[in-house]
Amino acid sequence: MPVPDVPVAALAGGAAMPMLGFGTWQMTGRACYDAVRIALEAGYRHVDTATMYRNEGEVGRALRDSGVPPADVFVTTKLPPGNAGRPDATLDASLSALGVPAVDLWLVHWPPGGPGVDLWRRFVAARDDGRARAIGVSNYSLEQIDVLTRQVGVTPEVNQVRWAPSLYDAAVEEGHRERGVVLEGYSPFKNTDLDDPVLREIAERHGVRAGAVVLRWHIEHGVVVIPKSARRERIEANLEAARFRLDAEEVARIDRLARG
Ligand SMILES: NC(=O)c1ccc[n+]([C@@H]2O[C@H](COP(=O)([O-])OP(=O)(O)OC[C@H]3O[C@@H](n4cnc5c(N)ncnc54)[C@H](OP(=O)(O)O)[C@@H]3O)[C@@H](O)[C@H]2O)c1
Repeated sequence: MPVPDVPVAALAGGAAMPMLGFGTWQMTGRACYDAVRIALEAGYRHVDTATMYRNEGEVGRALRDSGVPPADVFVTTKLPPGNAGRPDATLDASLSALGVPAVDLWLVHWPPGGPGVDLWRRFVAARDDGRARAIGVSNYSLEQIDVLTRQVGVTPEVNQVRWAPSLYDAAVEEGHRERGVVLEGYSPFKNTDLDDPVLREIAERHGVRAGAVVLRWHIEHGVVVIPKSARRERIEANLEAARFRLDAEEVARIDRLARG
């Protein structure tokens, strides 16, 4: 199957991050291996994992067995806040489980109490020594990002946060853009009513499913999105988001689903 035309986000350090990736939380063992194989076969070229998901080994094995050149797949993993005192050993364990010499993106999974200035210095060092091609954070506020920038002099390239039409916040989106931080959304479906009449009507107009409309809405906003599914049919259907566009009026209608 040809690789669908997924746009990329340009990270501040120069990396190109596919805007539609594959989430792997709550999948372990054989289920995770199978799902990642299916996703790569279907055309995903971006996989999101974390130390905390306990599935980096399966993700790595699926990547190797897929036959897709490693350089073609963007891999993210995350350091859990409980490991803030041992970042280097944590990253080395991730690399070893994934079977790669470097990850494309390494994130601080949650702020470790405060913004984690010392930890962020170690992230910068990991990027400098080549074990992480890009570095970022997850579940950070703009204020916490500003502390890292001020105290370390390096701004996170990405912030991965809960995001969906119901959670849409134009000021947060703009704040990330102003700082040059790519916003990455997680749990796009868990926070969405896929039977919403606005989503259904727009989906019908484009001949796609409501889920694909939600994913495309992220992309139109410049937000990277990483849906998870354990089922082949949905893994493939979610890639429909790469095959159509929403116009400005449709995006604005979906923006208005925000709960405020
Ligand atoms: N940084 C963080 O703190 C953080 C937190 C949460 C998640 N994440 C990342 O973000 C990824 C995505 O978030 P998530 O897994 O929480 O939630 P999600 O992708 O919003 O939702 C996954 C759920 O939606 C179902 N689903 C998938 N495609 C569907 C479709 N087309 N129509 C209807 N239902 C569909 C899945 O069921 P089936 O599997 O049965 O299809 C699963 O129950 C995670 O896997 C993880 O990689 C990061």
